[in-house]
Amino acid sequence: MDNLIKASYFLTVVLFVMGLKRMSSPATARSGIIWAGVAMGIAVVTTMFWPGLNNIGLMLVAIFSGVAIAVYSGRKVAMTDMPQMVAIYNGMGGGSAAGIAVIELIKGDVHSSGLIALSVVGGLIGSIAFSGSMIAFAKLQGLIKGRPITFGGQKVLNLIILVLAVVTGISLVTGGPGYAGTLTFFGLALTFGILMTLPIGGADMPVVISLFNALTGMAVGFEGFALGNEAMIVAGTVVGAAGTLLTQMMAKAMNRSIANVLFGSFGKEVEEAGASGIQGALKPIESEDAAIMMGYAAKVIIVPGYGMAVAQAQHKLRELADLLQEKNVIVKYAIHPVAGRMPGHMNVLLAEAGVPYESLYDLEEINAEFTSADVAVVIGANDVVNPRARTEKSSPIYGMPILNVDQAKNVIVIKRGQGTGFAGIENELFYRDQTRMLYGDAQAVLGELIQQVKQI
Ligand code: TAP
Repeated sequence: MDNLIKASYFLTVVLFVMGLKRMSSPATARSGIIWAGVAMGIAVVTTMFWPGLNNIGLMLVAIFSGVAIAVYSGRKVAMTDMPQMVAIYNGMGGGSAAGIAVIELIKGDVHSSGLIALSVVGGLIGSIAFSGSMIAFAKLQGLIKGRPITFGGQKVLNLIILVLAVVTGISLVTGGPGYAGTLTFFGLALTFGILMTLPIGGADMPVVISLFNALTGMAVGFEGFALGNEAMIVAGTVVGAAGTLLTQMMAKAMNRSIANVLFGSFGKEVEEAGASGIQGALKPIESEDAAIMMGYAAKVIIVPGYGMAVAQAQHKLRELADLLQEKNVIVKYAIHPVAGRMPGHMNVLLAEAGVPYESLYDLEEINAEFTSADVAVVIGANDVVNPRARTEKSSPIYGMPILNVDQAKNVIVIKRGQGTGFAGIENELFYRDQTRMLYGDAQAVLGELIQQVKQI
C-alpha cells in the first residue's frame, strides 16, 4: 500500500507540473486546469488510503460539501468577481495548512524541534494567508470599505504583532508546543494577516491576493515537510513559486514595488486628484460617425480594458471586429499586462468570445504599430492608455508602461461617462485633438456600431 500511495503521489506531482506548464498559454490553459484538477482528485483519493486514518465519514462529508459549494460558486461567479473568488479559495488553502499545523502542534504529533519549526513556520504563513485573504475577499465583495483603512501608529502596531507572533513561535520550538502557547501563536498570526491587509486599497487586492496565493503554497510545502507528505511538498512549492513570480510580474507591470503595494496605502492620496493641468476638451462623437471612421480605415487597433469586462462586451466586440475584417480592415487587439483586474483578464474574456489568439498582441509587440493605425478604439480602458504615466512624476501611475494609443491617427474612447479608472485620475488622452468620446455602456455602444457598420 505504501508503494501504491507513493506512486499515486508521484503521478499527482507530474500532473501538477504539466498542468501548470499548460496554463502558460491561453491555447492550452483550459486543459492545464483540468490536468491539475485531476491531479488534486488523485491526491485526495490517495490520502483516503493513508494507513491509520480515522474519521473517514467526517472527511467524506467535508469533501462532498466542499465539492458542492465549489461547483455551485464556480458556475455562478461573474467574471468581474473572479479576484474575490480566487481570494476566498486561496485563503482556504492557507487556512487548511494552518489547521494542520494547529492539530499537529496541539496533539504533539511532531516531536523533533526541526519538525516543530516547520509546522510553526507553515502555520504562521498559512494563518496570515488565510485571514488576509478573507479581508481581501470582504473588501472586493464590498462587505467592508474597499479603500485603504488606516490609523495612526498602524505600521508600528503591525510590527509589534508580527514580532510577538514570531517570538511565540520560537518559544513553541524551544519550549515544546503547549496548548495555550499554540493558540496564542495562531491568534497573533491571524491578527497580523487582518491588520496587514486593511491598509491596502481595494483595487490593489489582486497583487496582494497573488502574494497570499504564494504564501499559501509555501505554507502547504512547509506542512508537507512536517508531515512527510510528498504531494503537499511539491504542490506547495509549485504554487509558492508560481505565485511569487506572478506577484512580481503584476507589481512590475504596474511599476510598483511589492513593498509599495503592501505599505503604500495606494488610493488614499489620489482621492483628490482631478484634471489639473490638462489642456483641451472632451469631444463626443455619435456611433454613426465612429462606424464610418472604422469601416473606412485600413487598420484598427482595439484596446480593451476593465469596462469591457464590466459590460461583458467581448462577444459584441468580436462581432464588430469580424464585420470590419469582412470589409478588409486589419483588426488587431492590444493587450496591456494589467488591463482589467486580474492577470490575463482580457485574454480570458476574448478567448471566451472566440477571438483567435493570433489577433491578440502584447504591449511590446503592438506599441510600435499605433503610429500606423487609422483608428485606435479604447473600450472601457483608462489607466493603461493614460499618457501621463510617461510624463507626470506626481501621478500614481508614473512609470507604468502604457499602450501608445495617443500615437494613433484617430482615437475613439467608449466609456459610460466621466468615470476615472482604478488609479482615480483624469486621462490626458481623452482631451487630445485626435480623440473622440463615444459615451455609453460598452455592450450597448458596440451593438449600435455593429448596426451602423452593416449599413456602410
Ligand atoms: P481602468 O483604468 O480601471 O478603467 C476602466 C474604465 O472603464 C473606467 O474609466 C470606466 O469609465 C469604464 N467603464 C466601466 N464600466 C463600463 C461599462 N459598462 N461600459 C463602458 N465603460 C465602462 O481600466 P484599465 O485601463 O483596464 O486599467 C486597469 C487598472 O487596474 C490599472 O490601473 C491597473 O494597474 C489596475 N490593476 C490591474 C490588475 C491586473 S492584474 N489586471 C490588478 C490590480 C490593479 P466610466 O465609469 O466613465 O464608464
